Amino acid sequence: MNILIAYASKSGTTEDAAKMLGGHFSAHNVSYADLMAESPHVEDYDVIVVGSYVRAGKIAKDAAAFLQKNREAILARPFGLYLCCNFTDKALDYFKSNFDEELWQGAASAMCFGGEIRLERQKGMDKLIMRIVLHFIRANNRSEDKKEDIPLPALIPENISRFADEIKSRL
Ligand SMILES: Cc1cc2nc3c(=O)[nH]c(=O)nc-3n(C[C@H](O)[C@H](O)[C@H](O)COP(=O)(O)O)c2cc1C
Repeated sequence: MNILIAYASKSGTTEDAAKMLGGHFSAHNVSYADLMAESPHVEDYDVIVVGSYVRAGKIAKDAAAFLQKNREAILARPFGLYLCCNFTDKALDYFKSNFDEELWQGAASAMCFGGEIRLERQKGMDKLIMRIVLHFIRANNRSEDKKEDIPLPALIPENISRFADEIKSRL
């Protein structure tokens, strides 16, 4: 089977998640495409996976444009959608607001893979926002009267593995 994992990644986490996911399909021919640099030809593939970061509640424009342009071809194959975001409890809202129902409900798998804060890969205002978020998490975790530690955002390998299994069940 030819599997395409197409992703949009600004600071590298969604790209790393794509590679982790691809590792679950060693019996198949996996290709990766950076949607911020290219628009792959979906007709060449049996299975399509599209992954995107979330910023301010929205997926990447390039990922949305790729899905819109190739909608019919994608719906005609087994396909999956994944998001990388830090507020994992909001993932369902992000799916509902960024994809039409036919698309995200029709997916063999639609899942949040978690997210990361990579200060070294951020610039300008993005870096400032992430610094503030990190500061807030660390201050909470040091505080005497904290209720519980807030974990630093991270990728969730179990979700990647579960996503791969859901796709495999459709091959
Ligand atoms: C400016 C900015 C805005 C973000 N907005 C959201 C958001 O609305 N919801 C969320 O869950 N995560 C948000 N994040 C976290 C990113 O989704 C997370 O860092 C993700 O891992 C980034 O993926 P990438 O490295 O592939 O770009 C934001 C991050 C930045 C830098």
